[in-house]
Amino acid sequence: MVSPRLGTPLSSNATKVLLLGSGELGKEVVIALQRLGVEVVAVDRYANAPGHQVAHRAHTIDMGDPEALLALIESERPDLVVPEIEAIATDVLAIVEERGLAEVVPTARATQLTMNREGIRRLAAEELGLPTSPYRFATSLEEVREAAEQVGFPCVIKPVMSSSGKGQSTVRSADDLAGAWDYALTGGRIDRGTVIVEGFVDFDYEITQLTVRAVGASGEVETYFCEPIGHLQRDGDYVESWQPQPMSETALARAREVAAAVTGALGGRGVFGVELFVKGDEVYFSEVSPRPHDTGLVTLRTQRYSEFELHARAILGLPVDTTPITPGASAVIYGGVDAVGIAFDGVAEALRVPETDLRLFGKPESFRRRRMGVAVSTGPDIETARARAAEAASLVQPVVP
Ligand SMILES: Nc1ncnc2c1ncn2[C@@H]1O[C@H](COP(=O)(O)OP(=O)(O)O)[C@@H](O)[C@H]1O
Ligand SMILES: [Mg+2]
Repeated sequence: MVSPRLGTPLSSNATKVLLLGSGELGKEVVIALQRLGVEVVAVDRYANAPGHQVAHRAHTIDMGDPEALLALIESERPDLVVPEIEAIATDVLAIVEERGLAEVVPTARATQLTMNREGIRRLAAEELGLPTSPYRFATSLEEVREAAEQVGFPCVIKPVMSSSGKGQSTVRSADDLAGAWDYALTGGRIDRGTVIVEGFVDFDYEITQLTVRAVGASGEVETYFCEPIGHLQRDGDYVESWQPQPMSETALARAREVAAAVTGALGGRGVFGVELFVKGDEVYFSEVSPRPHDTGLVTLRTQRYSEFELHARAILGLPVDTTPITPGASAVIYGGVDAVGIAFDGVAEALRVPETDLRLFGKPESFRRRRMGVAVSTGPDIETARARAAEAASLVQPVVP
């Protein structure tokens, strides 16, 4: 690849990025791109999304609507189309790539495979032969019963098209299958009526292995790894993450082999969040985001370059540096209330916690369980950092003014 030339934003030679999805992760990617003088156009389904507020231009459209999405890409003519969420009309991205309208990050195929649990699971387990939980797909309660019989109890039932734990439940006995099937049907993003039934992996801990595909010194795309991120999930959402997660040498090596295999098969350039379950020295592939990962918010303070800066550099064809600087942790700040235009008290108190920083995302509307901010702390070890981040997050009080 030739060394990329970057233009002047808002001029005819601008290097232009269209970001599809402009939440808190997108906002950080926009800021990283802005620092490199890239013209950024941020898109979301609602006005004043976090990324909208820091971009050169903002659009509000339904990204699941193929015509609206194609029309926007044709009118903006970006160099790069960068999906930040899964719920996108990915067929349009394939058309964009085919017609050479723009480069899709990391590739249109990667966005298609990873938005559907069936696509990515079959690729990882059946094509690449990577270890995963036992699984079956089912399209009726009858098939769910057969599937559960085969994978055994407890099992986890999830719509194939869903994220943030929506429609997902853990089932301990056959009596609970009907409820889990109904719940999956209501929680799926696009009602395809297909679920995955996974055997429950009784893991010791789970990690996100951030993996970067970027142009190396050779001019070819190479694979780089960040330190493993440990995290805690509650009701399908991450509540705390830390880096580095201590691992045995064997497990770490396995994690990197699995991450390299999956990201290599997906191709393209950028950051990937490879979700893995670890039990002893065994590593099981769970799923992968072809973009920065929410648990990776911790890297805002633990790495020389955060996952957002790494993504910006990688997608532009620039070199990356995944050097860690310190142990750290992040803790989520929830809305706690359902209201528009909330305020935050306790920010000064939170920032008085040693080695602690905050991000308040600026979301126009709060929900009780919506992520509105995050505390990121560092420390001499992950225990100290976790305690600091949790304390800071608890000191920030969302209020209805
Ligand atoms: N087969 C499984 N065994 C044990 N825990 C699981 C399994 N599948 C999911 N989980 C738990 O649920 C969380 C969310 O599941 P995941 O498949 O990542 O869904 P989402 O796409 O909503 O993030 C995981 O991070 C893990 O903690
Ligand atoms: Mg997940």
